[in-house]
Amino acid sequence: MLTHEENERLTRIEGDAPMGQLMREQSWIPACLSFQLQADGAPRRVRLLGTDYVAFRDTRGRVGFLDEACPHRNVSLVLARNEDCALTCIFHGWRIDVTGQVIEAPTHAPNAEAFASRIRTRSYPVVDAGGLIWVYLGEGAAPRFPHLPFTVLPERHVWVTATECACNWLQGVEATLDTAHIGTLHRSYITSLAANNDANTIGQTLGALAPGYEVEDTPYGIDASGLRPLPDGSTYVRTTRWVLPFVSLVPGNPGQSDGVIFIVSPVDDHNHVLFFGHWSLESPMHDGKYERMPETHASIVGDRPFDIENFGGFTGGRDDSWGQDREAMKNGHFSGFTGNLLQEDTVTQISMGPIVDRTREHLSSSDVAVIHARRALLRALDNVAAGRPPVGDALPDDLSDAHPVDRILPADRASADAR
Ligand code: FES
Ligand SMILES: [Fe+2]
Repeated sequence: MLTHEENERLTRIEGDAPMGQLMREQSWIPACLSFQLQADGAPRRVRLLGTDYVAFRDTRGRVGFLDEACPHRNVSLVLARNEDCALTCIFHGWRIDVTGQVIEAPTHAPNAEAFASRIRTRSYPVVDAGGLIWVYLGEGAAPRFPHLPFTVLPERHVWVTATECACNWLQGVEATLDTAHIGTLHRSYITSLAANNDANTIGQTLGALAPGYEVEDTPYGIDASGLRPLPDGSTYVRTTRWVLPFVSLVPGNPGQSDGVIFIVSPVDDHNHVLFFGHWSLESPMHDGKYERMPETHASIVGDRPFDIENFGGFTGGRDDSWGQDREAMKNGHFSGFTGNLLQEDTVTQISMGPIVDRTREHLSSSDVAVIHARRALLRALDNVAAGRPPVGDALPDDLSDAHPVDRILPADRASADAR
């Protein structure tokens, strides 16, 4: 349980809220799916930390990330034409390139060229990696991009979707650290996944609903290990690596993937985008078209037509219980959210309200990782306020070896060996 003040400190990210400042100055923020920006395609509005930006890919494939307003008289550049290596504002035709430089100002005479050369709008550094566009919104020089296990793989080894979620960023993050819900909320999908995959280990979550936890502070955030004793004396261990503040690398499932991506993009106080996906070290997961779930993941898909840009979406809202299907529940579906596994996550988080009131919780032993993460975030805010890095001496600039772990520990191994 938190105090009201702590809940506000942790959740608010708009304006000059300290958590928003921490994200802006310290983090590369995931902004959209890479393929959502096509060369000369429609510019895309991206909202982060309560501010709107425009992102586009120019004729030569370079990504631009700019303030949304045209530097002339502030018409939205989301409306602009994207052609000939620049955005052309539809109001008066000023042209702005990926660096934010105005390269043509046809409404000015004489000396339009000299006039244009003196005007630029703010542009932000971007990295295109792991199927995502990442942006640095801070004031100073961008820190080195901290590569993750999936951002160093070939494009086809990573498969990632987006879902807009109408609730605060921290709800999205906490769900990824809460391994205890897998065997309950996702019971129906995990049952079918276990039945269809002999190599699976995640099926073990069904029989152990109260996992033990070992949580360790790391130079990037925390490692959270869920420990589930099995009938033969062995222990099923799942270790999620959480890179503060919003990247969770969750164990994959043998025969399916080597890791699961859960990354929360902080849109504003009441919205986030959840990037969910998988990576495979050895083999490609898709053919470059991204049109459907990889075959290996068919068991987490229900009756919702596949939509990579709104994978965990649903119809309806609070008034109709977000489309929950009571008939399906009678017939054996546990949650009644038959769309797909991710839909179960998005609906439960959104049902808590736009910002959950954490003064009203009753936490249990399964919430240890969530509690640790909150403490780490509060500490990070204190550190930044005191002029220190958010975690430890500095956030590492290469995390490509930080693989999540999914394994069975034999009976004769102490749990301290879990990681
Ligand atoms: S407002 Fe964009 S060119 Fe005038
Ligand atoms: Fe979940």
